[in-house]
Amino acid sequence: MKPLITTERLYLREFTIDDVQLIFELNSDPLVTKYTEKGPDKTLEDARKRLQNEILPQYTHGVGRWAVFLKSNDEFIGWCGVKYIEKEKVYTLGYRFLPKHWGKGYATEAGKASLEYATNKMSIKEIFAKAMSVNAASIHVIKKLGMVYLKDEICAEHSAEVYVLK
Ligand SMILES: CC(C)(COP(=O)(O)OP(=O)(O)OC[C@H]1O[C@@H](n2cnc3c(N)ncnc32)[C@H](O)[C@@H]1OP(=O)(O)O)[C@@H](O)C(=O)NCCC(=O)NCCS
Repeated sequence: MKPLITTERLYLREFTIDDVQLIFELNSDPLVTKYTEKGPDKTLEDARKRLQNEILPQYTHGVGRWAVFLKSNDEFIGWCGVKYIEKEKVYTLGYRFLPKHWGKGYATEAGKASLEYATNKMSIKEIFAKAMSVNAASIHVIKKLGMVYLKDEICAEHSAEVYVLK
């Protein structure tokens, strides 16, 4: 499938139903889901449901959580992208990467490209990002992306910080 976005080191493309193994590899790692609302996927079937029911339907909005790969060797490293939350009628930025790829600036690089795509190509006016207050790395990325603190919130019984990009 053709990449939707390319950056200096990465390319982003939509997931397909054939990517269950990639989602499972990512979501079955407890380090990856430590600070996310839902816990790890325990089986391939959990991952398939998440892909089919949560990730793929988002693409009808022209955005969504995109699979991120290294340009250098086509290795899958995680996902990033802007998602439309129907219930709240808001767009949110999210990202998660395999731990062996943390600390190399990939979340910042993919996040910046995703925000640019959402604002420039899709003309989305307002994008939110939320992270648990203890998730210092994620909050640091959100700030590096130029998002501005909006409020504190309780999310899945944890204190969280909400940021916005206008
Ligand atoms: C959060 C996450 C996406 C960051 O990805 P990443 O590719 O390592 O991020 P980057 O390398 O672009 O930037 C991380 C920044 O946070 C900093 N950082 C890392 N751990 C930190 C910590 N414990 N406290 C403060 N800052 C921290 C890094 O130094 C870096 O900042 P710098 O570039 O100024 O040095 C990654 O840790 C992850 O996938 N976590 C699991 C999923 C998750 O929590 N997603 C977010 C849910 S809100």
